[in-house]
Amino acid sequence: MSYTIGVPRETAPGERLVSLTPEVVGRLSKSGASVRVESGAGSASFHSDADYEAAGAELVSRDDAFACDIVTKVRPPDSDEIAKLSSGSVLVGFLSPLDKPAIAQELASRGVTALSMELVPRISRAQKMDALSALSGIAGYRAVLEAATLLPRFFPLLTTAAGTVKPANALVLGAGVAGLQAIATARRLGARVSAYDIREVVREEVQSLGATFVELEIEMEEMQDSGGYAKALVAEKAKQQTKLLVPFIGKSDVVVTTALIPGRPAPTLITQEAVEAMKPGSVIIDMAAPNGGNCELTKPGETVVHNGVSIVGSTNLPAEMPVDASQLYARTVLAILKDFTSEEGFTPNFEDEVFTGACVTHGGEVVHERVKGLLQSD
Ligand code: NAI
Repeated sequence: MSYTIGVPRETAPGERLVSLTPEVVGRLSKSGASVRVESGAGSASFHSDADYEAAGAELVSRDDAFACDIVTKVRPPDSDEIAKLSSGSVLVGFLSPLDKPAIAQELASRGVTALSMELVPRISRAQKMDALSALSGIAGYRAVLEAATLLPRFFPLLTTAAGTVKPANALVLGAGVAGLQAIATARRLGARVSAYDIREVVREEVQSLGATFVELEIEMEEMQDSGGYAKALVAEKAKQQTKLLVPFIGKSDVVVTTALIPGRPAPTLITQEAVEAMKPGSVIIDMAAPNGGNCELTKPGETVVHNGVSIVGSTNLPAEMPVDASQLYARTVLAILKDFTSEEGFTPNFEDEVFTGACVTHGGEVVHERVKGLLQSD
């Protein structure tokens, strides 16, 4: 018996990704699934309806794409979309269950089994399903390109007949997935790069990319948890950190900030004082803008200019690179589908830590402990 996979068009403002690309549709069709793609679903990422048909998909209406056994999405569904899902169906996508637990409640009431891509645990076996990391890498690259475009000077050292131009100084705060890609990109463009992170373990990675690891005089315990993520700094150390960072920020032409502690608002690393220490024309790309921002002056979704310093709060950098972002995202969705489907269709596996980590709703209930906790505390 074959099962159906639906790919609706994303309608969130500014979203240009599609959840499955023709290449991935081709692989799913070969493995026996019937893939139904809403007409126009791939147009913003330059995948035509004809490409999908050639890959074996059937082009359908929006309602028919939502009526499939499994529906794949990029952005969380709104109430209208949830109403279009069939009871007993499966939804895979970024569902923002920790920011918007009410969506999980609605999906549970609708009888949908929901797998949230942002909850896939960061363990070795699940690397191929790690959509957040895939998109963070893209965003880190794009952030540096935006900085280079806005900066009113060169990134590289230039020797010209009219004299030498010094390279730009770039500082990356937070050297996780996005930060390391930002460092590599800024280096490729020729900037002098330094980077800071509270996790000592990233020092070598930073240095191997040709950047300098910034040392701050703060006594630190082990700042990495067992999942490989950073622990939050206690208030007093956080204060010390922002103060000690001021001179490093002040001598940078570009600062890219990516600091994140999962499930918490972004830590403040750049105060107004630090912005005022920068030269006019400098640029801050605050990648943590979706979580409130690492800079005190960031306005998510906007570019603020303070004392001549541009502070960019882009909230969806991967949407600026929809071809590769869709392709990498689709491959992470494919990896999940491969592990949790058989010829008959979806096969939940509550013995599997990847499944239990990502599964938010099942059997009419919210099953994810953290999301349940958030709903109870509301
Ligand atoms: P990650 O967890 O791999 O890296 C975050 C890094 O921040 C870690 O290395 C952590 O140790 C470090 N960190 C935490 N607190 C810190 C502190 N107080 N000081 C210095 N470093 C600190 O996360 P990833 O995947 O690299 O994402 C980074 C950020 O980029 C997130 O906020 C994410 O939401 C954002 N993002 C933004 C996009 C956009 O369009 N603006 C797109 C994709 C990701």
